Amino acid sequence: MRKVFFLFFLAALSSCKKEASKEIVIIEKKVVKQSEMAALMLEMYNTNLENKKRILEGESPTQYPKDFSKIYSAKLTDSTDRNASFNAFSDFYLYTLKKVYNAPKDSLKIYHNNAVNSCISCHETTCIGPIPRIKKLLIK
Ligand code: HEC
Repeated sequence: MRKVFFLFFLAALSSCKKEASKEIVIIEKKVVKQSEMAALMLEMYNTNLENKKRILEGESPTQYPKDFSKIYSAKLTDSTDRNASFNAFSDFYLYTLKKVYNAPKDSLKIYHNNAVNSCISCHETTCIGPIPRIKKLLIK
């Protein structure tokens, strides 16, 4: 039974086309060897979730996560994803994210949503599965 259970998770995770639920991601961390990029993406997801919470509480995000520049080197599940357009989307994402950390308090929501939309822009070209989850990071 246990085995079948894990196989199900592996199947759910092996493709960018499918959306992984939160539960799957937590279990995945323990049992599946994920790519460096997938691990970085989850970190990025959590940081943006944290930022959303802070902004909704009227606080600014704390510190710009310098290690997100790993997006230029992290190993991908599918290495052919890394092309000129991928690097351009990476530049754009980090550019919009930096702006969140320098934004005046009354514009935080706009800058945060810009950063999240830049996640979505890249995902539309490379990995559509997580888009519904990423959209939850937007502040309405
Ligand atoms: C430059 C393109 C690009 C940008 C920008 C980008 N992503 Fe990704 N994302 C990818 C690719 C490609 C993958 C698949 C990685 C792999 O499997 O190696 C991925 C995977 C993911 C995953 C699935 C990880 C898993 O469990 O396998 C999540 C969640 C995710 N990204 C969220 C985000 C969030 C949130 C942002 C913005 C903060 C973001 N992404 C920005 C390209 C991008």
